[in-house]
Amino acid sequence: MSDSMIFDAVDTFPNEDRRRQFDALVGLDDKKDQIVKEASIILDHSLLEKWSKEKHGKVIGAVQYFHNRPPLFIFEGDVGTGKTTLAESFGAEVAAREKMEIKLFRLSLKTRGTGRVGQISGLITESFDDFMGQIGTSPKGKRHHTCGILLIDEADALAQSRELDQMHHEDRTGVNALIQGIDRIANGNVPALVVMCTNRVGAIDPAVQRRAAGIVTFTRPNEEQRLSIIEKGLTGTKIAQKDLQALAKAMGPTDERKYGYTFSDLTQRFLPGIVLDAYPDKAITIESAMAFLQKTLPTKPFASECA
Ligand SMILES: Nc1ncnc2c1ncn2[C@@H]1O[C@H](COP(=O)(O)OP(=O)(O)OP(=O)(O)O)[C@@H](O)[C@H]1O
Ligand SMILES: [Mg+2]
Repeated sequence: MSDSMIFDAVDTFPNEDRRRQFDALVGLDDKKDQIVKEASIILDHSLLEKWSKEKHGKVIGAVQYFHNRPPLFIFEGDVGTGKTTLAESFGAEVAAREKMEIKLFRLSLKTRGTGRVGQISGLITESFDDFMGQIGTSPKGKRHHTCGILLIDEADALAQSRELDQMHHEDRTGVNALIQGIDRIANGNVPALVVMCTNRVGAIDPAVQRRAAGIVTFTRPNEEQRLSIIEKGLTGTKIAQKDLQALAKAMGPTDERKYGYTFSDLTQRFLPGIVLDAYPDKAITIESAMAFLQKTLPTKPFASECA
């Protein structure tokens, strides 16, 4: 734990709890694979060179393009679809696989006031200073360093501050501070990367988007993914498979609404809800589950996505 005043919390990986959280995310295999590979390579360039020598007998030219890979990822998409959970847990997987020490620093902009012009830019500059001060290579050699992941959650607050600010030259300062921070990491060859999470990728400044090595889009679960979570939660009850399938189907989009349950509707509302309904003297049945489902509407998509 760090005694930093800026970050909400700091985690150190490897960490088995976080790795389990990573494993428990359903239907994100492609995204997990992409982010784990990209992050490993950004945090330790020598991995790719080693691979190239092993497979091709030398470091092939294509490898050099990764040296300039920007250390930024943007996780964007609908509410409750796993952005924050993946951002907080992929480092645990990378650390375990590659035997690295990685620290995760979390900064949430929404919870910090944005009233004063320049407040966010100050916060961002300060957070990059603190972050860069706590990671780096030790004199012992390449593998003896602490890598860093800086997570900027609710990153659309950056854009919000720009909308609120009236002064023209001031309103870009938050974005500029962020760009400077990312460039500092890239140019300093520091074993670090930045992940921004947002519901509104359109609100993220194009100059920031251009710097991203990857923009990963998260969506609500499809029927198969819903079923997989329901099965995990309700196997062991007497509910028949066909009824579990009916539940997964009923959670999908309908004629009246175009959207179905989010992942968090399933894991934070539906499953705990039916457990509490039955506890302490009843068992969960398909009837009680269906009744709960009827009164539990899916979370509305983020406002700008409904338009
Ligand atoms: N793919 C998934 N598989 C299993 N559980 C999931 C998945 N995605 C999200 N969840 C669960 O849903 C809850 C909310 O997820 P999370 O906070 O990561 O969503 P988010 O995309 O960051 O949402 P928001 O946009 O509201 O910040 C968590 O408890 C998480 O475990
Ligand atoms: Mg989130």
